[in-house]
Amino acid sequence: MNIAQMQQEILRLKKEKGICIFAHCYEAREICEIADYVGDSYQLSVWAAQTDARTVLMCGVRFMAETMKILSPEKRVLLSCPTAGCPMAEQMDKEMIRRVREEYPDHTVVAYVNTTAALKTICDVCVTSASAVKICSQIENDKILFIPDCNLGAFVAEALPEKKVKLLNGGCPVHAAVTMEEVQAAKARHPEAKLLVHPECRPEISAAADYAGSTTGIMKYAKESDAKEFIIGTEISIAEHLQYDCPDKKFYPLSPNLICRDMKATTLADVYNILKTGEGEEIELDAQTITDARRCIDAMIAMGG
Ligand code: 13P
Ligand code: SF4
Repeated sequence: MNIAQMQQEILRLKKEKGICIFAHCYEAREICEIADYVGDSYQLSVWAAQTDARTVLMCGVRFMAETMKILSPEKRVLLSCPTAGCPMAEQMDKEMIRRVREEYPDHTVVAYVNTTAALKTICDVCVTSASAVKICSQIENDKILFIPDCNLGAFVAEALPEKKVKLLNGGCPVHAAVTMEEVQAAKARHPEAKLLVHPECRPEISAAADYAGSTTGIMKYAKESDAKEFIIGTEISIAEHLQYDCPDKKFYPLSPNLICRDMKATTLADVYNILKTGEGEEIELDAQTITDARRCIDAMIAMGG
């Protein structure tokens, strides 16, 4: 079976079995093409809660499927590839953060959505890269402990100088590996291009950018801008999707190393096999974890996502 035939079979099977497919925008093109919804991790969870489908298949990484389960506990949530986890989400566990909380009892603990469901149960409020500044600006306490991403946390601190933001040493190994040498080389190769980066990159990279923001923010900026060329400082799929969506513009990945291996762990054949057999990695969370982790996510939703 070639790719096009496999895609046709997937479209037929998902209709026949009533399975709704969600794909994070870092997934490969051929997977985004057969998905019912493509978006960032937060958008996908909200859409999943709104669909009537009893079974949803999340093509992405584990914390995204967990967030979906927390928001839609009655649904059967399948993860496209059992080994696809976000390394950043695994960097800090509940025991570690419990100890840090004891050290900083007067801080509000803000958890990036890239955390495990278990860790969310002991945090105060969740944020996504799109909402981090907006949510933190509404927290009454001026002392914030931001976990796990120190680069996104530094981005928030820079935008909100009135807050005292305590950071820990976590981060995305893919975005944090981008270097200033790569920025200078990309700018030298494409002097007319705008530089758009994700705030998971190190602070000096975000400072050198024309725009720093979430995955969806980068896509919106590129689509609405009058500029014709862009250097894209986030996972390589975003440059590829933008090139399909805006054929009259040019998109250059900031670094060839901006590949998230976990996001790329899912293959079209994985999706096909799950649909064919109806079996896959089902996300199971106990009722207490769902209730406690949901508090953290609901606090974010109450502050406007
Ligand atoms: P989003 O929250 O924009 O989906 O990003 C998730 C992520 O893993 C970024 O590296
Ligand atoms: Fe995690 Fe980074 Fe991959 Fe996003 S790009 S899923 S933060 S490792």
